[in-house]
Amino acid sequence: MNPVISPSDYDRFKLFLEQACGIILGNGKEYLIASRLTKLLRDEKIASVAELLTAIERGHPRQLRDDVIDAMTTNETSWFRDRSPFEALQKVVFPEMDRDGKRQCRIWSSACSSGQEPYTISIALSEYLKTAAASGLATAQIMATDISKTMLNQAKQAEYEEGILGRGLSPERKQLFFRQVGERWTVSDEVKRRVSFREQNLLLSYGSLGKFDIIFCRNVLIYFSAERKTDILNRMALALNPDGYLFLGASETITGYTDVFEMVRSPHGVFYRLKAKS
Ligand SMILES: C[S@@+](CC[C@H](N)C(=O)[O-])C[C@H]1O[C@@H](n2cnc3c(N)ncnc32)[C@H](O)[C@@H]1O
Repeated sequence: MNPVISPSDYDRFKLFLEQACGIILGNGKEYLIASRLTKLLRDEKIASVAELLTAIERGHPRQLRDDVIDAMTTNETSWFRDRSPFEALQKVVFPEMDRDGKRQCRIWSSACSSGQEPYTISIALSEYLKTAAASGLATAQIMATDISKTMLNQAKQAEYEEGILGRGLSPERKQLFFRQVGERWTVSDEVKRRVSFREQNLLLSYGSLGKFDIIFCRNVLIYFSAERKTDILNRMALALNPDGYLFLGASETITGYTDVFEMVRSPHGVFYRLKAKS
């Protein structure tokens, strides 16, 4: 069954999705709704997008809203994605923290998808701690959040198929930081121990998350409006300790959205540091 989506149902769905999770559907993306929601509609015995939206408005069944958001998110990710942010952590950020005498750091992977990003950060830290440069920075906690329950469940499981590991992970890292369990590979305890997961919609308050030294907000702002980007970046700034760092995706920037960060151009790519309060 391919749902027929009238122009007014499409507008209604676009509005729902933007308000629920910030994702903006451009014009002519009816096919995306159809391809992502057909199975859900069939499973829930819902005949049309109009009926779906009405059911969500009435709050019945209760998890329907979450399931729709889950289906509409794009969860593309990989290990050491774009490489440079993780090199910057190892070559610039962790050494700077060490020099400043920091013993602990808290890192937020704010759209963690199936876990590759937070586990990569943890691997990068394990590798850094084995280098001669490392001295005081002994512990790190990585809080990984996402809006998608399905992704969070996969991430918590920390088990990946061989083909998924091949996306960005070298054979050496695979041997050092993963263990084979049947057909799949599980993240080592050393890497897993630092990472905790929880559900967080980036549109909602970050007040209960505490303060961080580093925030990764990669490849998610691209889906949001300029107003949402400004709001999220400014609230992330409030969630950072003084001199805290922000990493965005390779095609993302703060320019035009906020001036509370300064750009750091390192040999390992661009990232951002919270400006000191004047
Ligand atoms: C393309 S993935 C990026 C994953 C990872 N950060 C990376 O760069 O590889 C985007 C993730 O953002 C999540 N997402 C989308 N809207 C969100 C929102 N409003 N709040 C939190 N996470 C959201 C999706 O569920 C998805 O897992």
